[in-house]
Amino acid sequence: MKVLRINAVDTYQIRQKVLIPDHDIKKVKFENDDDEDISFHLGAFKDSQLVSVASFYYERNTIFSDLHQYQLRGMATLPEFQGQGLSSELLNMAFPIIKQNFCTLLWCNARVTAIGYYEKVGFKIQDQTVFEIEGIGPHVLMYKNI
Ligand SMILES: CC(C)(COP(=O)(O)OP(=O)(O)OC[C@H]1O[C@@H](n2cnc3c(N)ncnc32)[C@H](O)[C@@H]1OP(=O)(O)O)[C@@H](O)C(=O)NCCC(=O)NCCS
Repeated sequence: MKVLRINAVDTYQIRQKVLIPDHDIKKVKFENDDDEDISFHLGAFKDSQLVSVASFYYERNTIFSDLHQYQLRGMATLPEFQGQGLSSELLNMAFPIIKQNFCTLLWCNARVTAIGYYEKVGFKIQDQTVFEIEGIGPHVLMYKNI
């Protein structure tokens, strides 16, 4: 397995398949995806096949006091490759990059179904408020100090 920096466009197929319930290609592009000053994207490859992706955006959430923060979005592993540690490896590569950029916090809107995953990789729930993201489902705000 190899973890590499990839372009936003490379994440779209996995985002569409794993994260977008109606597989609507128009919804796979996130704001600032192509702005290299704001975002970076990582991919895990198995036998040269891209099987897991994650994207990171310099984005402050004012609920947290840290001045410099990143937001994690588009975390997804193809179903047949889940549970093999791939997403964890993407995060392990991301943490030092975030730190190098003088950011001290990584936060995400976590799907309730993925809370267990985020807890295993060191995230905490900010508060227990569950909120709905339209068309996707219930989420909670989670964070990890970097
Ligand atoms: C959540 C997701 C990204 C995890 O990716 P993955 O490559 O399977 O994750 P890993 O193999 O690195 O898992 C790390 C640990 O978390 C556990 N884990 C993975 N998904 C989990 C979940 N949904 N709930 C609880 N634990 C989970 C794994 O079993 C593993 O535990 P271990 O260290 O004891 O073996 C993947 O399951 C996925 O794409 N899910 C659908 C999309 C999604 O919900 N994305 C998050 C959007 S907020």
